[in-house]
Amino acid sequence: MEERRVKRIIMFPLPFTGHFNPMIELAGIFHNRGFSVTILHTSFNFPDPSRHPQFTFRTITHKNEGEEDPLSQSETSSGKDLVVLISLLKQCYTEPFRQSLAEEVGEGGTVCCLVSDALWGRNTEIVAKEIGVRTMVMRTSGAATFCAYTAFPLLIDKGYLPIQGSRLDELVTELPPLKVKDLPVIKTKEPEGLNRILNDMVEGAKLSSGVVWNTFEDLERHSLMDCRSKLQVPLFPIGPFHKHRTDLPPKPKNKDKDDDEILTDWLNKQAPQSVVYVSFGSLAAIEENEFFEIAWGLRNSELPFLWVVRPGMVRGTEWLESLPCGFLENIGHQGKIVKWVNQLETLAHPAVGAFWTHCGWNSTIESICEGVPMICTPCFSDQHVNPRYIVDVWRVGMMLERCKMERTEIEKVVTSVMMENGAGLTEMCLELKEKANVCLSEDGSSSKYLDKLVSHVLSFDSSAFAS
Ligand code: UDX
Repeated sequence: MEERRVKRIIMFPLPFTGHFNPMIELAGIFHNRGFSVTILHTSFNFPDPSRHPQFTFRTITHKNEGEEDPLSQSETSSGKDLVVLISLLKQCYTEPFRQSLAEEVGEGGTVCCLVSDALWGRNTEIVAKEIGVRTMVMRTSGAATFCAYTAFPLLIDKGYLPIQGSRLDELVTELPPLKVKDLPVIKTKEPEGLNRILNDMVEGAKLSSGVVWNTFEDLERHSLMDCRSKLQVPLFPIGPFHKHRTDLPPKPKNKDKDDDEILTDWLNKQAPQSVVYVSFGSLAAIEENEFFEIAWGLRNSELPFLWVVRPGMVRGTEWLESLPCGFLENIGHQGKIVKWVNQLETLAHPAVGAFWTHCGWNSTIESICEGVPMICTPCFSDQHVNPRYIVDVWRVGMMLERCKMERTEIEKVVTSVMMENGAGLTEMCLELKEKANVCLSEDGSSSKYLDKLVSHVLSFDSSAFAS
């Protein structure tokens, strides 16, 4: 162990919660296997290093003093154009990243490799190669989504993309079981920019020394096989990341007291499997009328609910001020609305009976691990792909499409998922949860892939790689 601790891994996460969290989890996994970890992070969306004292954090600054900061413009606020934001991030950070990586490598010690978020794309591999460092790529979404991304040029040729309203329910014969409406697109004013980002991500993965995936074989065997043949680099599906044993200390309590209050005071008082937990992740935004429909749908279901409404998540509002006067008093003890919770602890709480989610990949895999059935309302990108698998393939959830998000429908779907016990949903959830447990057992697929990943990384001889 000690011998390996001198071996260093440098990580370069994308600065969004859904990307940063799994990178930190992966950092913990490497640290537990004896590596020291340095995290290069952007000055945009700065993490709190004190939460992870076992890693070294280095900030990459993307602008010179006195220059105007392009990332502080309105593009960066919640619900804005993600394609524009990601393009801007890539543009602003390429050169500063090169400098920081060169400095890190110049400091001496053995740098085994760089692990970068796949979305940083091909440039990261090129820069690292110039500096003489091998790159592993970490992908935060599932393998099925990646297969869809690799097929984008074909889907454009065949006329599936851009999506036309009249073809939404058509099966994409090249990507079963996906329908046209399940393709991982993002609403943007720069559709060409999206194609460039995705193509760059796929090409970057092909140039890398391997892809680490927060998924497991029993969940996505066919998609992983497909990715393997398309990428022709080693793949390491070692997920679920957050369930690996690590030596990370427990997270410090949230500054905002919501966590403590929710988990101890309110959730503990609810009956087992009685609560609907509602959260749409860290980025998705909804319209005000959708917000009202959700509020009334939950209220009318008469089920206890815990609802995360991030400040700014409802377009044009700060937080809850647009709710009808008296609504909060009216729900009384039936529901709790909070700004953020510890989702891992919430999903593991015995009172939670269903998760109404936007189907981000982290939320999906976290729910699977706790055996909690899902109500699926995808908003953008891979969130469209995941529900097709959740509902039709793994059969651990029900669909509630955004275009049908109206209070009576909400009440109906939420109630039927909570009452679904007899119709097999619970059994399928428990079965899948068991598979997630098994893959992490000593002989499980994820444990074996992790052993292979560690050997793979240790085998890199950076001196032989420098060009
Ligand atoms: C986005 C994409 O949606 C996702 O599919 C992609 O793989 C990563 O980027 P996000 O929309 O934030 O992520 O969703 P998700 O992937 O579910 O990640 C959200 C994370 O925040 C989860 O790890 C979840 O546990 C955490 N979370 C969310 C909380 O801890 N508390 C909350 O209140 C809400």
